[in-house]
Amino acid sequence: MARKKLIAGNWKMNGLLADGVELAKGVAAEVKAMGKPECEFLVCPPFTLLTSVKKALRGAKVALGAQDAHFNTKGAHTGDISPEMLKDVGCQYVILGHSERRADHGESNELINKKAVAAHQAGLKTVICIGETLEERDSGKTIDVCSKQIMGSVPDDSTAADTVIAYEPVWAIGTGKTPTANDVEEVHAAVRKVLAKKLGKGNANKMRILYGGSVKPGNAKEFLSLPDVDGALIGGASLKVADFMAIAKNSGC
Ligand code: 13P
Repeated sequence: MARKKLIAGNWKMNGLLADGVELAKGVAAEVKAMGKPECEFLVCPPFTLLTSVKKALRGAKVALGAQDAHFNTKGAHTGDISPEMLKDVGCQYVILGHSERRADHGESNELINKKAVAAHQAGLKTVICIGETLEERDSGKTIDVCSKQIMGSVPDDSTAADTVIAYEPVWAIGTGKTPTANDVEEVHAAVRKVLAKKLGKGNANKMRILYGGSVKPGNAKEFLSLPDVDGALIGGASLKVADFMAIAKNSGC
């Protein structure tokens, strides 16, 4: 089953107007120059840049995503943004349940599930993040932790058309450390099995599972050539046009 690779940049809390627009324009120009790339591209800037990045991406096959959403459509939720609002400014995707939100904001699997249901209802695709801490890895709980996160945070009616999974070991994020290729493939294959149990084999075989955590131009090929790795969710290296595009090119896009 051929799954189109997704090369996704999570800009996190980075970028003022001028640099965000410059970065988006740079990515747009490079993607346009590729003609018909084999991969799909996605950038997820902070909320404040969504509208200007949308403009900067005009004419390029690069999707726009946000980094979080509330589960309500509107109302008294100071500081929150609804899926409808994201759709309204041109988002196609939203990242949910990133480990930084699980840690900084205490987001539970249940909450992430509610957010994903709301995002799908609003017509957004979700990138639902899972991943173990170093302590969990060291005690041999990686697959167990990831399975529970999938079972809890992915809505029961999710499909390969509206959901992407991102496996990001917490200890590999922003650290320069990565699991071995074998470890990554083992987790991705296990995640696909859990998805098959939850959503049926058809969806599981078509659903993209991204790897994230210190993906760089130098290691992209190793990870993205694994059979169950369908793209990358890139933090630090997505803030430089050259690095982001080198990851894509090294991954066969
Ligand atoms: P780094 O690529 O900076 O390790 O971040 C990964 C990540 O958290 C993407 O969501």
